[in-house]
Amino acid sequence: MTTELITGIRELTTQAGDGARLRGAALVIEGGRIAWMGPAAEAPAADRRTDVGGRAALPGWVDTHTHLVFAGDRAAEFEARMAGQRYEAGGINTTVQATRAATEEQLIGNAARLRREAEAQGTTFLETKTGYGLDLESETRSASAAAAVADVVSYLGAHVVPQGVDRRDYLDLVIGPMLAAVAPFVQYIDAFCEAGAFDVEETREVLLAGRAAGLGLRVHGNQLGFSGGVRLAVELGAASVDHCNHLEAADIDALASSSTVATLLPACDLSTREPFPPARRLLDAGASIALATNCNPGTSYTTSMPYCVATAVLQMGLTIEEAVCAATRGAARAVGREHGTDAVGSLRVGGLADLQVLDAPSVAHLAYRPGVPLTAAVWRRGVRLEFGHRGV
Ligand code: NIG
Repeated sequence: MTTELITGIRELTTQAGDGARLRGAALVIEGGRIAWMGPAAEAPAADRRTDVGGRAALPGWVDTHTHLVFAGDRAAEFEARMAGQRYEAGGINTTVQATRAATEEQLIGNAARLRREAEAQGTTFLETKTGYGLDLESETRSASAAAAVADVVSYLGAHVVPQGVDRRDYLDLVIGPMLAAVAPFVQYIDAFCEAGAFDVEETREVLLAGRAAGLGLRVHGNQLGFSGGVRLAVELGAASVDHCNHLEAADIDALASSSTVATLLPACDLSTREPFPPARRLLDAGASIALATNCNPGTSYTTSMPYCVATAVLQMGLTIEEAVCAATRGAARAVGREHGTDAVGSLRVGGLADLQVLDAPSVAHLAYRPGVPLTAAVWRRGVRLEFGHRGV
């Protein structure tokens, strides 16, 4: 097997152990995994040598909340929001119409384009969801398209009740034939627990049906108000509850004494003008947090994890190390991939070689130079990703 030495790393953030940054480091990749890691001066010989010239290296981003399977865009809705209109879940139906009209090839093409865009910014592991089909045929097509593009897929039939459909009939479809049809493609079930979408009892019914089908649980909770989604997610032992903008002290306590990760979505908060979640209070209370893009055409049309990390530092009160950890190892926890042979979000000998190099000497530059494209190189499973010219 060919070996590749990556050397000249001025600062190596591993997120293994205490997350300390190693200075003057190198690592060797073999067979898609890290075969050696340590001081550059002690590096073994390898078949190939890449000198990154004093740049910083860190694990690839783990983006655990995206909705990449869709057609169309909602720029007009966004423009109206920036002119003062409040975000409500109703816009989802616009994307549902466009998604139902698209072929599976078109859906895969759009999602793959967004995945490439994310990879070019350092993302090496990505979750995506269904949720813009909302009928049996379109949700199944969406699940199949999602599985073709993402590392892990969540079933979000319970996004909203589609227009013109009886509420009870729709819930029966979501927990019955639709769940059975998407099951081969998905690992998690998700539900939007919010006014305008599903209440706590409906969300509970959906999640329990998913659990009975062998799926892990995720919840969209407390995005637009005190929906009860966070408390339900903790009660049911969900892997993650996402958004978390509106939290009472009891929600923070519940998260802190649970294994449920609070996944925070700062790009969405800026685009919907919702208050940021209390990230500092969550961490200080001992809760686990993750950062994700929530890439979708309605509330957060960005694939940029660096933008989320910078925002978390500059506007949510996290340190650089806390934000980088939340976007890598913390995120891995939110998809059950923090430990084991297929762990992501950390760099360790024997682990997957998913890493990125910044065009900067330190991870501090992610927030110190916000908005500047700093991704210099990305390896996924030990293979260097190529990013061609993106113009016409
Ligand atoms: O996570 N909150 C629910 N779902 C998406 C938004 C979907 C949309 O408006 O299209 C989200 O923000």
